Amino acid sequence: VPLQAYNSFGIVAKARELVRVRSEADVLALLADAGRAAQPKFVLGGGSNIVLTGDVRPLVLKVEVTGRRVVDDGPRATIIEAGAGENWHEFVRWTLDQGFPGLENLALIPGTVGASPVQNVGAYGVETQDRFESLDAIDLATGRVFTLDAAQCAFGYRDSVFKHAPPKDGEASGGMPRGMGLAGRALILRVRFRLPKPWKPVLGYLDLERKRAEAGVREPTPRQIFDWVCAIRAGKLPDPRVLGNAGSFFKNPTVTPEQCTDIIAREPGIVHYPMPDGSVKLAAGWLIDACGWKGKSVGNAGVYEKQALVLVNRGGATGGEVVTLARAIQTSVYERFGIRLEPEPVVV
Ligand code: EPU
Repeated sequence: VPLQAYNSFGIVAKARELVRVRSEADVLALLADAGRAAQPKFVLGGGSNIVLTGDVRPLVLKVEVTGRRVVDDGPRATIIEAGAGENWHEFVRWTLDQGFPGLENLALIPGTVGASPVQNVGAYGVETQDRFESLDAIDLATGRVFTLDAAQCAFGYRDSVFKHAPPKDGEASGGMPRGMGLAGRALILRVRFRLPKPWKPVLGYLDLERKRAEAGVREPTPRQIFDWVCAIRAGKLPDPRVLGNAGSFFKNPTVTPEQCTDIIAREPGIVHYPMPDGSVKLAAGWLIDACGWKGKSVGNAGVYEKQALVLVNRGGATGGEVVTLARAIQTSVYERFGIRLEPEPVVV
């Protein structure tokens, strides 16, 4: 089965076998087949955060669970549920159309609803964890459906329990597999979001403040913020349908204040943000840009001209070329700044 259309990098690769999952019944039917139950499995959502470096041998489960509904519209919050296979951006737009703001800062992020908690996707001052209520997932080893709240998802910066491998003896306990890691073990079916009332805009981000000043608006509506975020993203992030990519390729690294002072002494222009816990986050895009990578390529894999943190497929790139380019960038950033960049997408 060709996977090119199923990964936002547009890398050519094949899966031996791909099964579409539209409900938990589909998973249960699959697990009832002894041969398939025993096979290693790979859960695929929108494919917007993976780099395929070859054909995928595990059985690919393409999540296509749909549905959107208001679970509870109370005085302090609205709880909204969506199937894991729903397109994220369409879902955000739908919540606004229904009159439930709160996700507008997360407009135009590629991928599916099910991927949002895996990555704890975030942009312009809002992360999934800030709007998360709970999710239902199915244990691929036992077929048991379980629910996780935010604490159980162990959200971190672009991180969650779903990005960590399970312990080898990961026995199920109380419906949820034991241990910290659920990577490859759980398939997310539905996600619920809590949109607090009254709605408060999250501005503060420089790019958004600039838009607000331009528009001359003091109290923007959710729809205006949605439109501004779309415009900002369209201005510096490539549309994966036009130019293959997986968004930011590296996480923004965190350093101690001492390290930061040290680096500023050498590099006064460095873009950095103090974090609430006292550490300092550096803009990885700035570091890569400073090393002269913007617009450069390795084979058909390149560094995007308008945002050095984004690696792109200039046409026919292999996963190997993307990984080679990423390593070369990591080496030069390390040599110049002594900072190790950590990739954000999952290399398959
Ligand atoms: N910068 C440069 N050169 C570049 C790129 C960036 O100097 O080539 C500087 C910019 O001037 C800016 C700073 O770096 O001052 C930060 O850039 P930007 O505002 O574009 O945000 P980012 O830190 O690169 C992060 C997220 C994005 C998210 C934006 C907005 C990560 C890894 N990335 O990018 O998320 O949309 O903030 O909140 O945290 C993603 O994760 O895939 C993603 C796109």
